[in-house]
Amino acid sequence: MEIIHTIEAIRQSVRQRCTEGKTIGLVPTMGALHAGHGSLIEAAAGECDFVVVSIFVNPTQFGLGEDLDKYPRTLETDAEFCEKLGADLIFAPSADEMYPSEQLTWVEVEKLTDGLCGANRPGHFKGVTTVCSKLFNIVGADVAFFGQKDAQQTAVIRRMVCDLNLPLEIRVCPIIREPDGLAMSSRNRYLSAEERKHALCLHRALTVCREQIAAGQRDTNSLIGTMEAVIEQDQAQIDYVGIVDAETLEPFEIVTDGALVALAIHVGPTRLIDNILIDLNNLPNIV
Ligand code: PAJ
Repeated sequence: MEIIHTIEAIRQSVRQRCTEGKTIGLVPTMGALHAGHGSLIEAAAGECDFVVVSIFVNPTQFGLGEDLDKYPRTLETDAEFCEKLGADLIFAPSADEMYPSEQLTWVEVEKLTDGLCGANRPGHFKGVTTVCSKLFNIVGADVAFFGQKDAQQTAVIRRMVCDLNLPLEIRVCPIIREPDGLAMSSRNRYLSAEERKHALCLHRALTVCREQIAAGQRDTNSLIGTMEAVIEQDQAQIDYVGIVDAETLEPFEIVTDGALVALAIHVGPTRLIDNILIDLNNLPNIV
C-alpha cells in the first residue's frame, strides 16, 4: 500500500487504475483511525476495485478555540490499520498542498448547515464541504464513503453532490460503537476515565428515547425533555438535543419514519455527538 502526499502523484496513480477499468472508492478521514473508520474502509473494499483513504486534518473546518492543534496525528499506525483492512492507497497531503494560497473559493450548503452542529460551529460545514469538494476533484472517485455518526455532515454532503451534479455516489455506513454503547470517535481519546463514564449519558439518552418511541410516544418536545433530563443528571453540558428530518434537518413535532434524533454534549472540554435514525417498524437496540 502506497502513501502519497501530493495532488499530482495521486492524480497520476488514480488515472492509471481508471485506464485499467477499476472503480475507485474514497474514504475521507482526518486520521486517528478507529473501527468506525475501519467499517468505511471495509465497505469501500467490498464495493470498489481500488480504495483510497484520505487522511487530512482539515484546518478550515476547525473554529477558533477548537482542537486543531491537539487533534491526534498518527499516520504510521493509521497506515498499518488501512493496509490490514484492504485499502490500496493513502492520500495524506500537507495543509500547504491542499491550501497553497489563500482560499478565495468556498463551497457552502445553505439552510442544512444552520442548525444542530452548525449553530454553535459557524463555518465548520463550509470547511467540510470545501475540503470534500477538493478531495472529490483530486481523487476522482466513483463512490465516497461516510459514516452515519456525523449525520448532519452526510445530509450536507449528499445535498452538495446533488446540487452541484458531482459525478460520484455517496454511501453512508452505520455507527460503530464501543461494547458499552459509546459511539467510536477520534475525540474519545481526549476523555479521562471519569469523563469516559459521563460520556455514556449520550447512549443512555438515545436508549430512553428509543424505548419511549417503541412504547408509543411521538411528541418530540416530550422526548427531547426526557433526553435533556437524562443528560442533566450527569456531568455533561448539552450543546443540542434535536429531532429533525434526516434529509432536510427541519425540526419534527411528531416522530415519523426518517426522523433523526441527534445530540451533542460537552464532557469537560471534549465535544461529543451521537444520533439514531428512526424506522418505526424496526427499532432495534442501539448497539
Ligand atoms: P473524521 O471525523 O475522521 O471521520 C471520517 C469518517 O468516519 C466520517 O464519514 C465519519 O462519519 C466516519 N466515522 C467516524 N466515527 C464513526 C463511527 N463510530 N462509526 C461509523 N463511522 C464513523 O468526518 C470527518 O473526519 C471530516 O469532517 C471529513 C469528512 C474527513 C472532512 O474533513
